[in-house]
Parts: sequence; structure tokens; C-alpha cells
Amino acid sequence: MIFTVAIDGPAAAGKGTISRAVADRFGFRHLDTGLLYRAVGAKGDDAVEAARNLTPADLGRDDLRTLKAGQAASRVAAIPEVRAALVAFQRRFARSEGGAVLDGRDIGTVICPEAEVKLFVTASPLVRAHRRWLEVGGDEAEVLRGVIERDARDAGRTEAPMRAADDAVLLDTSQMSVEEAVARAVALVAARLG
Ligand code: CDP
Repeated sequence: MIFTVAIDGPAAAGKGTISRAVADRFGFRHLDTGLLYRAVGAKGDDAVEAARNLTPADLGRDDLRTLKAGQAASRVAAIPEVRAALVAFQRRFARSEGGAVLDGRDIGTVICPEAEVKLFVTASPLVRAHRRWLEVGGDEAEVLRGVIERDARDAGRTEAPMRAADDAVLLDTSQMSVEEAVARAVALVAARLG
């Protein structure tokens, strides 16, 4: 069976949590595509070369979840050659035998427009910044500024900007518990699987 769940949305909206839960529930593979851009951003100087030569070890670094790594990811993610270098791997992952869940910014629009289920997960900037601050600590106002800056860059770039696919289901998790958000996503996938 080939079955793809595309989960897109802005920073710290809860995509990762929902994606892992959906993958667990249905026994699908999961790819956090943000990690690819974080690894490229962390690798340093030549982002295009880094994207072309990304290894599993690059994805295993323990400094990829920081706010700094998120900002670096968002900067290299605007470079068309960086995105191009990562497309084939993501498409293959999405369309290999067995189900797959991919979360990112352009999964439903660019990587896998044919995905069987598309979700665009969002929440207000304040709620998202608060959730990220609970994970990373520091100054909450600065976390909020970072979230807003990254969203603007991700949505404003020319190449594969962050946006909901026309046929994506919108899920605003501002007022939702994790359990509720996961239950909604699981119900959508279950309905499509029939
Ligand atoms: O976890 P969080 O939502 O904060 O970010 P992430 O998903 O790890 O993504 C980090 C950055 O990578 C984003 O701000 C985007 O610039 C970029 N990204 C992208 O351009 N396309 C994707 N499919 C996934 C991430």
C-alpha cells in the first residue's frame, strides 16, 4: 500500500507531535523534514554542498533543536538549490511501500501533492511561542520574535513557500489539547483508509 499523510504548518504548531502519533497509530514511517533543513543549516559554510551530501550522521547531531538551528534552517531553506537537493529523498520516502507521514512546510504543495491526507496545522503565534518556550526555555518574548520572523521568511520566500494546499484540512490547535489534535488527525486518516 502507498499512502501519504502530509502535515504542514508554521513553527511549533504541533506538527511533530501529531505526526509521530499518527505514524504510531497506523504503523507508518515518519519523516520530520524540518530536520533535513536544520542539519543543512548546522553544517556550515556551503549550504548547497551540505544539502547534496547530507548523511544520517548529520541528522543525528544533538544541537539541531535549538532556536539558533531553527533560524539557520529557515535561511538555508530559502535557497532553491538546497530544496532541490532534498526533493528526491523526500518523494521516495513519501511514496515507498507502507504508509508514510511527512511533516514540514511544503509537503502537501510541492513534495507530495498527491498525498492521500493533507493537514495544515496551525495555532496563534502567542500559543506557538509559549509551547516552544516550554521546550527550550530562555526569554519568552525573544522566542515569540523568532517564531514570527521565521514564519514570515518561510511564507514569503519564492521557492516552495509555506502555505496550505487548496485541499488541505486546516487544524487550528490554539484551544486544543494534544489528545484532541491527535484524535482529529487520526480520524481523518482512518476515514480516508476506509
Ligand atoms: O519544529 P519547527 O516547526 O519549529 O521547525 P522545523 O519543522 O524543524 O523546520 C525548521 C525550518 O526548516 C523551517 O522554519 C523552514 O524554514 C524549513 N523547512 C522547510 O522549508 N520545508 C520543510 N518541508 C520543512 C522545514
